[in-house]
Amino acid sequence: MQAKQVTASAEAPVSEACLRNQQPIADMLERELPPHSVVLEIGSGTGQHAAFISRRLPGIKWQPSELADRIAGINAWRERAQNSNFLPPLVLDVAQDLWPVKQVDAVFSANVVHFIGWPKVRAMMAGIGRVLKHTGLAFFYGPFNYGGQFTSDGNRLLDQWLRERDPDSGIKDFEQIVLAARKEKLRLLKDIAMPANNRLLVLQKYV
Ligand SMILES: C[S@@+](CC[C@H](N)C(=O)[O-])C[C@H]1O[C@@H](n2cnc3c(N)ncnc32)[C@H](O)[C@@H]1O
Repeated sequence: MQAKQVTASAEAPVSEACLRNQQPIADMLERELPPHSVVLEIGSGTGQHAAFISRRLPGIKWQPSELADRIAGINAWRERAQNSNFLPPLVLDVAQDLWPVKQVDAVFSANVVHFIGWPKVRAMMAGIGRVLKHTGLAFFYGPFNYGGQFTSDGNRLLDQWLRERDPDSGIKDFEQIVLAARKEKLRLLKDIAMPANNRLLVLQKYV
């Protein structure tokens, strides 16, 4: 249930969840992303999504970012991938005021919203509002609740595990995410069903 993470080598960490979800995520991004987009990924984790998606969509530029302690793993995947559109990872904590990027065409974040608490989610929305260009797209992949209800037993157990680890974290209500995004001038375009009771929310920046 909880995304298991094993280490394939000292340098390149492997998330089994990424191995399962990278193909369906890439399929959707290929459909939704304008060609030649510069995409900021927030909370890149192992770096597997960056490696897989940058190979699958060679026309885009993929800018991974993470907390400082995860950068070495992403660099290991970058070295292994050898994709010129897989940019060097940036250190980015969503709570920081100044983000190390200027304007991007799109933002992608997988499984971060449920991993952090509301103050950081709001900071992330505000940061996205600052760096996303007008009409740019923001993608949030992961589990969400609807009408305050879990959408599966697996998601309920994941939420329990998250809160035991960090009481501020947990699966967020879709409706509250949409409201928090709107405060930063991001409006919901699509809510796409993904495998294993996950969703891909697609939002667009407006002025
Ligand atoms: C469940 S993992 C998801 C990783 C990856 N996106 C994936 O789907 O496999 C959540 C990630 O959020 C990152 N994270 C936690 N707090 C963060 C913060 N304040 N700013 C940026 N990233 C953060 C963690 O380091 C972790 O890699």
